[in-house]
Amino acid sequence: MSSSAKAEVRIYQNYINGQWVGSSTGETFPVYDPSIEDVIANIAAASSDDVDRAVVAARRAFDAGPWRQTTAQDRGRVLFRLAAKVNENASMLAELESRNTGKPIVEAEYDIADVATCFEYYGGLATKVLGQVNPVPTNALSFTLREPAGVAGQIIPWNYPLLMAAWKLAPALAAGCTCVLKPAEQTPLTALEFASWLEGIGLPPGVVNVVNGAGEITGAALVAHPGVDKIAFTGSAPVGKLIMKSAAETLKRVSLELGGKSPNIFFADADWEAAIDGALFGVFINQGEVCSAGSRILVERRIYSKFVEAMTEKTKRIKLGPPLDRNTKMGPLVSKDQYERVTSYLEIGKKEAKVAAGGSRAKQFSKGYYVEPTIFYDVDNSARIAREEIFGPIASVIPFDGENNAIQIANDTPYGLAAAVWTRDIYKAFRVVKSFRAGIIWVNHMQPTYVEAPWGGYKQSGFGRELGPWGLEEYLETKQVFVNLDETPIGWY
Ligand code: NAI
Ligand code: MG
Repeated sequence: MSSSAKAEVRIYQNYINGQWVGSSTGETFPVYDPSIEDVIANIAAASSDDVDRAVVAARRAFDAGPWRQTTAQDRGRVLFRLAAKVNENASMLAELESRNTGKPIVEAEYDIADVATCFEYYGGLATKVLGQVNPVPTNALSFTLREPAGVAGQIIPWNYPLLMAAWKLAPALAAGCTCVLKPAEQTPLTALEFASWLEGIGLPPGVVNVVNGAGEITGAALVAHPGVDKIAFTGSAPVGKLIMKSAAETLKRVSLELGGKSPNIFFADADWEAAIDGALFGVFINQGEVCSAGSRILVERRIYSKFVEAMTEKTKRIKLGPPLDRNTKMGPLVSKDQYERVTSYLEIGKKEAKVAAGGSRAKQFSKGYYVEPTIFYDVDNSARIAREEIFGPIASVIPFDGENNAIQIANDTPYGLAAAVWTRDIYKAFRVVKSFRAGIIWVNHMQPTYVEAPWGGYKQSGFGRELGPWGLEEYLETKQVFVNLDETPIGWY
């Protein structure tokens, strides 16, 4: 038996109508620290009855409650207060996020700073929602009112837990919607800490509710509920398809961010040092658990061998370690399930291509879901490791011959979330930008994401856009108001 004292196992409930409530079935589920495989919290699982309670509360807060009557300025102020709370508690939140997801603490600190920025941004945007006057050709006035879409069901993943919650809650609240948030069952802790401040900052009960539990139960109940007007989802493509089908029954609005298999394209004339760094950063940041991971690395044949060599050499020096160690560059994967999924792709990859680096569990750790950063090369774009989203530290390097070939390979994917292109030739860079079908394209960088700019995919990476004014748009309805200025009767009958 280990003599080291185990950290306390915390208990969390669901946050419904401004109160912490247990599960109607009494069920709980464990949450782990994936670096030591220990339970760190137990969470009350929300049954479909509990989800119903949360939706009813959100419905009431929207239809009759005070939230509907708040001014845009007051909603903005609530968001500013939330941003301030996040900043005041930044180190606690970063540590909790790091422990629960396995991501390096330094990365978690950036995430939490982005959470605060997201609330600030939408706090400012709340007062900039404008309607317009429509130039109708009669003796009349037509204008549009922008109104909140209603009750939003928001289902989020485990790779950036509080940041994904912020991307969904902040624009919804700015628009005047009420929310039922379902965090990923692996990583609900930071969202629950966040919920504990809502009452104190003056948010009326029912405006934000947090329900916890398995996707197939808690998430599915939220999607099917007739009291929900809109579903916003980030996660896997198969679940995105299920959500669309279920939402069709009640004709909910849906927005989906479903990840991808994003190409990171390197031409021979790219800045060498920046390119090697960019290839590794693109695919290994956050252990590769990134929806926009540059997991297909396309390299012009003229530099291909040298490029694979340089990537390999640097990859072997990437420091894996405990998430809370400030020198750690890569922690464990988030869960046993994800570890098993990713390591199964290591075996598939070994049959489909050659291994330059990694290829197995990181054996220096006796516990924890650590996987070596892995580079497969000579990968054919038809291989499973080039087509399927792995969501782990696995790069598939693919050679190409010239610009047209690069574009053809890059576009040959069912997904279209993101891409990056590296070259010093601006003509070539922008031709690639125009030719590639995806929602985000970086030139000479990969991954930076700012709240001011849109985020979302083409093709099977989903639809709808988050962040910026686009993110707010997802939570707004448009009402046309027609005012007759002609006092004579219609005179038709
Ligand atoms: P998932 O898509 O099953 O889970 C994401 C969220 O959806 C979680 O909150 C989950 O509880 C919920 N969910 C699951 N089934 C649902 C259902 N039937 N109805 C409503 N909600 C449901 O993703 P999972 O299983 O955690 O990871 C599997 C793969 O999905 C990963 O390996 C990765 O490829 C992909 N993924 C993509 C993400 C992205 O950012 N685009 C994020 C997380 C996972
Ligand atoms: Mg799943």
